[in-house]
Formats: sequence, C-alpha cells, structure tokens
Amino acid sequence: MTMTLSSKGRVLPKIIGHRGACGHAPENTLASFRYAHRLGVQWVEFDTKLTADGEVVIFHDDTLERTTNGEGAIRDIPLDDLQKLDAGSWYDPSFAGESVPTLVQGLALLDELGLGANVEIKPSEGQETETAEAVCAIIRDYWPTSMPAPLISSFKDPCLRVARDRLPQIERASLILDDLTDWRNRAADAASVAIHMWYEPLTRELLGEFNEAGYPVRVYTVNDVDLAETLFAWGAEGICTNYPDRFGRLARVT
Ligand code: G3P
Ligand code: MG
Repeated sequence: MTMTLSSKGRVLPKIIGHRGACGHAPENTLASFRYAHRLGVQWVEFDTKLTADGEVVIFHDDTLERTTNGEGAIRDIPLDDLQKLDAGSWYDPSFAGESVPTLVQGLALLDELGLGANVEIKPSEGQETETAEAVCAIIRDYWPTSMPAPLISSFKDPCLRVARDRLPQIERASLILDDLTDWRNRAADAASVAIHMWYEPLTRELLGEFNEAGYPVRVYTVNDVDLAETLFAWGAEGICTNYPDRFGRLARVT
C-alpha cells in the first residue's frame, strides 16, 4: 500500500469499507471484516464504544435492538452478556452466531488479514472522555506493529482532544455530518489531518475550502459509482462505502 504524505497526513486507499463491508455482512463484526478483505479492501472503518464494565467493543448504536437480538443500552450490558447475543441473524440467518467483537479481537483479525483501520470513537451519550481514553489505551497497548498505524476519527471534539493528548503521533480526522459551525477552529484544535464528511451537504466549493486549508477529504457513505466519480473529480481523496466491490475501477485511479 502506498503511504505517502499529503498536505497534512498520509494518503490512504481511496476506498474504505464502512463498518467492514456492511452492504454484504452484518456491520462491525468479524464476518464483515473478512468480507471486506475478500473484496480486496485495504482499509476498513468501524465504530467503538463502551460496555457497562468499560470494555471497548466494535459497535455503532447506543442501543442493542437494531443489530443484535438483545434489548436496552450497550452502556448497561457487561461484555460477557453482550457477547452472548447474536449480532448476525438480524442481517441474514447465514450469519447466525456472529458476536459483537471487542476492539482487541477486531485488531487480531485485522492483523491476520492485513487490513488497515479507521477507528471511529462513537461514545454513548455522555461517555465521550472515558470512551476515548479506553480506545486510546487499547491502541497504545495492543496495536500490532505489523499493521499500519490507525486513523482515529470522531464526531465528538472531546474524543478527538483526548486522542490528540494521549496519542499525538496517531493521526486524527474530524467527522462532519452537516454542522459546519467553526469547522476550521475545531479541526485545528483537534490537530486533525483530514475531514471526513457526509456526502449530502457537501458541495464542490466546500470540498475546495477543506482542501485549500490543507485537509484531504474522505466522504461517507458513498454507495453510488456516479457520485463517487463526481466527488473524486471535485478533489475528494477517498470514500467510505458499504459496497467496496462497486468501485474497483475507481480504486485503481491514482
Ligand atoms: O466514518 C464514517 C461514518 O462511519 C460516520 O457515520 O454513523 O456510519 O458512524 P456512522
Ligand atoms: Mg462510523
């Protein structure tokens, strides 16, 4: 993989698998990482948050209902109980028995597969600091030296500040949905090296502003090839997609 320096950070692969390859397998599971690898993806994005006993797991929602057969808030369930839940059947019966992985379990598989990672810190409401502290501690203690260093991202400025202070050498990206208030100061305060933004409010002009300020832009969640071509023509560096298999031709464009 090419790892040259851009204006602020490394150039990452153009196609990043969202929650693994969540168009093909249950999101944020080991099965999803394996599927992404089979599709030829080099990097995946996934979400991290805390269980009741402070373990870092790979999971998106604050609640269990959508992607497991459990109920309630993830912040209220200890790891042992969480890992007894089925995180695959909701997607397809063929994935029955898939469980919610810990970050450490995820890293072991990514290392085995040779996949790079964009680790999104996605705290449950009010757990910004402790989630970021726990994620950073695991990255510090467990990140395999054989893997490329991760890129940490978050919508939450307090999480990015913790990452900046605890792991200054690990690159950060500021996630933006549609609130552009004070984005320059927020990205500068986090010492982010990139902007990751939702495609819908993104315009050519805005993307140009990010680039002129020195931030490469990766756009989520892009599942349409025509949209991706437009974004790359505007100067996007990459996309995060549920369907990495749709973008083979674009992925080869340097
Ligand atoms: O990192 C891009 C994307 O994952 C951010 O949104 O809600 O899918 O975590 P979400
Ligand atoms: Mg995410």
